[in-house]
Amino acid sequence: MLIAFEGIDGSGKTTQAIELSRRLEEEGVPNEVVREPGGTRLGEGVRELLLHRSDLKISPLAEFLLFSASRAQLIEEKVTPMLRAGKTVILDRYFYSSVAYQGFGRRIPIDDIESVSRFATGGLLPDVVFLVELDLDTAMKRREDAGRRADRMEESEVRFFEDVISGFKECARRDPGRFVIIDGSAPVVKISERIYNHVASRIKNLAEERNAP
Ligand code: TYD
Repeated sequence: MLIAFEGIDGSGKTTQAIELSRRLEEEGVPNEVVREPGGTRLGEGVRELLLHRSDLKISPLAEFLLFSASRAQLIEEKVTPMLRAGKTVILDRYFYSSVAYQGFGRRIPIDDIESVSRFATGGLLPDVVFLVELDLDTAMKRREDAGRRADRMEESEVRFFEDVISGFKECARRDPGRFVIIDGSAPVVKISERIYNHVASRIKNLAEERNAP
């Protein structure tokens, strides 16, 4: 099973991805969390270039292709082999982040984002995408409270993040069978319970389908 988490910076998606992994582990479901950009040695190198090298000039198109390169490597090197081995893979971001940040945020045509993403991933789609929604003020406040230094993407202006939020909403609107919208302002344990219950019922359905005559 392939599960993706999406949401703006500070929405709490990473916390939820890790918590889901822990719960699944407890229930004996082998799984792994991988993050984007990153997740492989090449991907971590690309992540460094994209997020922490303020000395580099990166055009929107180059930015998108670098995120895509990291994604292509992650799918081939880790995700596909893990899925083949029967593991559940939890993606902390996937190409919907490119649709939202590089498409809606940086104004690269969405069709191009989608076709390059399909090419980079071999068309691999998640079984479920949890979109953790949170308003911008709360997300920014959380980031400040955590005392984290802003990376290159996080230094963008408010308008950019408003576009990113609309981008995620649009992804969910266009693919309602795959997206589950999560209210990121709810207490952390409530959110993780909801996510776990959803995944548990999907796993049960998959098992029943497999056992059906
Ligand atoms: P993330 O790892 O979620 O940030 P952190 O761990 O610092 O909370 O994501 C890194 C940044 O990259 C984030 O601002 C979103 C951005 N991003 C894109 O713009 N496009 C993409 O395709 C991906 C995967 C991430």
